Amino acid sequence: MLILNEKDMRRVVNWSQMIDYVEEAYRIFSRGEFWMPDRTAVVRDSDTILYMPCFTDDVFGTKILTLFPDNPSKGYPYLDGLMLVNDLDTGKTVSIMDGRYLTALRTGAVGGVGVRNLSRPDSKSAGVIGAGQQGFTQVIYAATARDLDQIYLYDAFDKDWESYISRLRAEMNDQEIRIDVCASAAELVEKSDIVITATPATSPVLPDYPELLRGKCVIAIGSYKHEMREIPDSIWQLLDQVYIELPFALEETGDLYYPLKEGLFTKDQVCYIGDLLETETGRLPVQGETTFFKSVGMGLLDLYVAKKLYELALAGKVGQTVEF
Ligand SMILES: NC(=O)c1ccc[n+]([C@@H]2O[C@H](COP(=O)([O-])OP(=O)(O)OC[C@H]3O[C@@H](n4cnc5c(N)ncnc54)[C@H](O)[C@@H]3O)[C@@H](O)[C@H]2O)c1
Repeated sequence: MLILNEKDMRRVVNWSQMIDYVEEAYRIFSRGEFWMPDRTAVVRDSDTILYMPCFTDDVFGTKILTLFPDNPSKGYPYLDGLMLVNDLDTGKTVSIMDGRYLTALRTGAVGGVGVRNLSRPDSKSAGVIGAGQQGFTQVIYAATARDLDQIYLYDAFDKDWESYISRLRAEMNDQEIRIDVCASAAELVEKSDIVITATPATSPVLPDYPELLRGKCVIAIGSYKHEMREIPDSIWQLLDQVYIELPFALEETGDLYYPLKEGLFTKDQVCYIGDLLETETGRLPVQGETTFFKSVGMGLLDLYVAKKLYELALAGKVGQTVEF
């Protein structure tokens, strides 16, 4: 069995290739070549453990994630976990990898897919709200997907910005890109062509002024429960369609569940990002219009990316082999 930690995964990863992998996982979703139950959330007070099993035609696996909101105040990450990759014929676990880093890698690439396919090709600036683990990779992938010259960051809480930005610079190929911190989410939205939210917020983090959002590409990563919201209702005035990953998202996240229930949009406005990539049924975004992609994530993305990382690590003789 091959054990891959963050350091191992870093040795084989390539940002642009990761966006390709996540696009391919969305295409597999669109073709229906997978089996994936709705993920199981086991909740104890405010803490959650998510179980995300999935099969494709050549592999199966499970990601197990913990989401513990009090962890950052204890010096531990909010999100942690493991990914198990199993051989399809024998069921044997062939690899265990760091689920926290895998999540950041593939969730960043999810944002990258959104930026690559839904933002204006001439976009020059991206703003990320929520300077945590996911926000970090959102910045990297946004800059991978478009030729940006400016990144804006905003967080509701005090941050060691110098260290965050210098870590970002160390990861990014583009050393010329400017990275600035905004004093408010409104300032960030006003200045950015692409707006990405990556927070565990329970009320909208974007300002409730639809005119500020007009013509922008908005990608919401954070909310995955009814009580979590990042996006204000007023965005629906600007949208003909919303891009999502899977039908369960409509039930799972407050950013879709309540607006749908309240009639702010209807199911015939929903487009699946996999269909956009794979088939003629995916509706293309209209140039110049506001585009909105709401991600909640799904086990298929983790499985496909984990399988690729496992294959790359095997080929490159990276990781530790452990006999059971
Ligand atoms: N869509 C997906 O596939 C996917 C995958 C992984 C995580 N997530 C979700 O993304 C969110 C962020 O996860 P993370 O691992 O980056 O957490 P994190 O704790 O590392 O970072 C969250 C950041 O958001 C900031 N924040 C909190 N409330 C805010 C607000 N109201 N306005 C601005 N900033 C605020 C925090 O200060 C922190 O810096 C979580 O809700 C997580 O469940 C989604």
